[in-house]
Amino acid sequence: MSGHAAPIPMTSQKSGPLKGVADVPGDKSISHRSLILGALSVGQTAITGLLEGQDVLDTARAMTAFGANVERIGAGAWQVNGVGVGGFAEPENVIDCGNAGTGVRLIMGTMATSPITATFTGDASLRSRPMGRITDPLALFGALSFGRKGGRLPLTMVGAKKPVPVRYTSPVASAQVKSAVLFAGLNTIGETVLIEAEATRDHTERMLAGFGADITTEATNKGNVITLKGQPELQAQNINVPRDPSSAAFPVCAALIVEGSDVLVPNIGLNPTRAGLFTTLIEMGADLSYENMRSEGGEPVADLRARFSDLTGIEVPAERAASMIDEYPILSVVAACANGATIMRGVKELRVKESDRIDAMARGLEACGVRVEEDEDTLIVHGMGAAGVPGGATCKTHLDHRIAMSFLCLGMAAQNPVSLDDGGPVATSFPIFETLMAGLGARITRPVGD
Ligand code: S3P
Repeated sequence: MSGHAAPIPMTSQKSGPLKGVADVPGDKSISHRSLILGALSVGQTAITGLLEGQDVLDTARAMTAFGANVERIGAGAWQVNGVGVGGFAEPENVIDCGNAGTGVRLIMGTMATSPITATFTGDASLRSRPMGRITDPLALFGALSFGRKGGRLPLTMVGAKKPVPVRYTSPVASAQVKSAVLFAGLNTIGETVLIEAEATRDHTERMLAGFGADITTEATNKGNVITLKGQPELQAQNINVPRDPSSAAFPVCAALIVEGSDVLVPNIGLNPTRAGLFTTLIEMGADLSYENMRSEGGEPVADLRARFSDLTGIEVPAERAASMIDEYPILSVVAACANGATIMRGVKELRVKESDRIDAMARGLEACGVRVEEDEDTLIVHGMGAAGVPGGATCKTHLDHRIAMSFLCLGMAAQNPVSLDDGGPVATSFPIFETLMAGLGARITRPVGD
């Protein structure tokens, strides 16, 4: 929600070896999509393992506002009785998506081809993020939008009364843009075609097919050409949300940088469109193994085992960026503890995430005594190696959960404690982070103000 909660300062202290099993929460991307597709289906969708972070709770509330019946029946267990494709009702009030870029962009796409009007807002972070990348393609379907400068929220969208199918080449490597276009195509007669030059996470395509839509992906020399036939009848599904590789990244990376650690992170989805971080860590010399490899719901899944490692900086290729786009903040913490430089290229999308993540990481790492270089599209972190990261600073989190968790992990390995001005944003994607990390042996405290 876009409330103005009081900041929650946090401090992370040097930790002894992290040991044990880390059961991380459900996948954020798949959780949003489960609720939205459940709302667009006929019948009752039963979801287990839903991430109950604030971002996803905001999407659940939004689906209720558009007319679906969304009910929590137990921990991570939810039921959605959908209204069917084209069945969205006009919300009576403003839709507040809180901190969630994925939530607002996917929901805007979904409503853009229904004859209803909705107004969207969010917290200060979300209100500063660009929405033109979504409203431009939605305008081609016939949807009108009235936002602030640059299409920023609050924004009112007037859905197309007679949507026309669209053939759209996404100018950015973004699964949110792809998904907004495909969701808009659902209530549009004819074929909607989305072309992406670089492959991004493909949960929307996999899940649309699972709900019964006619969707194909063709790999061409221009990239993936995804074709969706409009106005399918989506059938309710039972969904078991896999655990989030982007959340697994925090206990995995903390184990790699805290001496003596050995942590098992079970049941992690290793969809290749999400697994770039783990490839990168192995190239840096991480003692990271995939145990019990198997396939679940058509996705590769494994238990990850991470042990403290002697790491060396590498150059991370730009082509890998989409498959690890949310993991650069925690990778830059690992890089700070490694020997030599880690060069991250092709990362300009980080500037328009929940915060400008290149700037947030660079300033925080510098405050902790690490040398950093950056340009618009590149981040270079000079690792401290055996000398260790001095730490001893308070880092600004800019309403960004991944910046917060990254600096808390740094504090576990640094010579002096690392503090956050506000750890509150952690709850958007990983509400059990503090207890889970404490269970492994980490020391995170919430200093009480005077
Ligand atoms: C997401 C896509 C990514 C990612 C975000 C989740 C999704 O954003 O950063 O956390 O679920 O589609 P972009 O599509 O803007 O890269």
